[in-house]
Amino acid sequence: MAVPTPLTVAHGDGIGPEIMAAVLRILREAGASLEIQTIEIGERVYRRGFPSGIEPSAWDSLRRTQVFLKAPITTPQGGGFKSLNVTIRKSLGLFANIRPCIAYPPYVRTLHPKMDLVIVRENEEDLYAGIEYRQTDDVVHCLKIISRPGCERVIRYAFALAVQQGRKKVTCFTKDNIMKLTDGLFHQVFREIAAEYPDIHADHLIVDIGAARLADTPERFDVCVMPNLYGDILSDVAAQISGSVGICGSANLGEQGAMFEAVHGSAPDIAGKGIANPSGLLFSAVMMLEHIGQSETAARIHDAWASTIEAGIHTGDLKSAATKQVVGTEGFAGAVCARLGQKPKTLRAWSRTGDLRAATQAALARVRRTATAHKELVGVDVFVHVRDLNAEALAQRILALGATSWELQAITNRGVKVWPEGLAETFCTDHWRCRFMAAPGTGVVTTEGVIHLLGRLSAVGLPFIKIEMLFTFDGQPGYAQGH
Ligand code: NAI
Ligand code: MG
Repeated sequence: MAVPTPLTVAHGDGIGPEIMAAVLRILREAGASLEIQTIEIGERVYRRGFPSGIEPSAWDSLRRTQVFLKAPITTPQGGGFKSLNVTIRKSLGLFANIRPCIAYPPYVRTLHPKMDLVIVRENEEDLYAGIEYRQTDDVVHCLKIISRPGCERVIRYAFALAVQQGRKKVTCFTKDNIMKLTDGLFHQVFREIAAEYPDIHADHLIVDIGAARLADTPERFDVCVMPNLYGDILSDVAAQISGSVGICGSANLGEQGAMFEAVHGSAPDIAGKGIANPSGLLFSAVMMLEHIGQSETAARIHDAWASTIEAGIHTGDLKSAATKQVVGTEGFAGAVCARLGQKPKTLRAWSRTGDLRAATQAALARVRRTATAHKELVGVDVFVHVRDLNAEALAQRILALGATSWELQAITNRGVKVWPEGLAETFCTDHWRCRFMAAPGTGVVTTEGVIHLLGRLSAVGLPFIKIEMLFTFDGQPGYAQGH
């Protein structure tokens, strides 16, 4: 037998301990070679005063094993608690979240019997950076961060996965018609990397119509790659329409570490009843076995699971006309164990060479360093908190400063241009953006010039709440221009 692979396991909250017990039993009986370390996470840890829901000592285990099988936890309501998942993903650098969504007709009810896709979600960036501010009485905001290496890592991963799994198509979803710089970068990197894979069909959809098509005709999709927020939402949609969120597993992959968990939560409504479906966590465990190179055991478990489903032995959540016997969590685990060694008769047996670790390494090995551009400061956006002035009066107060080295180019409110030539109908908040560019003939813009401007604005009762320096990169504007 192989040297046991060290694995960190957390039993979680709600149905977590029940489904984890079932999964660990199946892993054991299938012959998985594991050296399990158990850590505690979740509600009780939050209540003991650890705001991230994990004890500092648990990190030692995670750092040592780098492989984490995690049951769902209950996120306490109320302020002061941080999302454990977000903390773990970021701390371990788990940049890609993989969710295969597959239909199992006619045994699992679905409107989309041909559905077989994988969602690859960027996992560290976008609006999930958690950088949020209240800036005025009226306005709060959240930073959407997208980096070129971040895009490259996850998009390269999506293509590497497609190659590994013999899939034919990768579809990218963004909203770059609106977010031209952030989503635009994701789309641009997608184009660049797609060009390296001529044998894989690459496609891009605006996320609105992409989401509609995914919900309507999911069988048209194969691998889908997208930024964090869209991926979070659409992977739940895809999981649900494949039959049930209760049967989908996920892998969070990084350069070193990996975390595997079900897509669903801790289901407090059915906790302690022994009726939860362990399939989602079991699928995560199957992906975990692929990741650590125990593919044969992964296939044994998958095929025993498919045989059980085919036999009509289902947990209550999957009850349909195909159900012959409804069982609880333990009963289901027992039925899977009894079928270890069997192949499914109509459902597809495990055939994919889904070596997740190899796909990750192949993707990361090719990530390029972003080229250094020639960067020039050309202007500054100054955001001011002003309550009792309209756009024209605000402009006049700024123009009265006589700051001759600056040209006030435009004032916007929530991104809508209100000066010059604003519309009286535009609703304005107390959060204004004033764009200053170097006045023609005044030479280069300097940081000192910006500081001087800010001082003068403050002195006339226009306190700045935030500034954004405006740069060009190799002559191309590094800021959105349309108002
Ligand atoms: P949920 O996924 O726990 O439950 C939604 C519905 O699906 C419930 O009716 C539940 O009974 C059912 N369900 C879920 N898993 C099932 C299974 N394995 N077998 C049978 N039925 C199942 O989502 P909900 O209710 O929104 O969240 C409950 C708690 O879980 C919350 O505290 C939430 O924050 C947390 N959560 C944790 C996650 C994680 O740890 N990764 C992910 C999502 C939610
Ligand atoms: Mg989610």
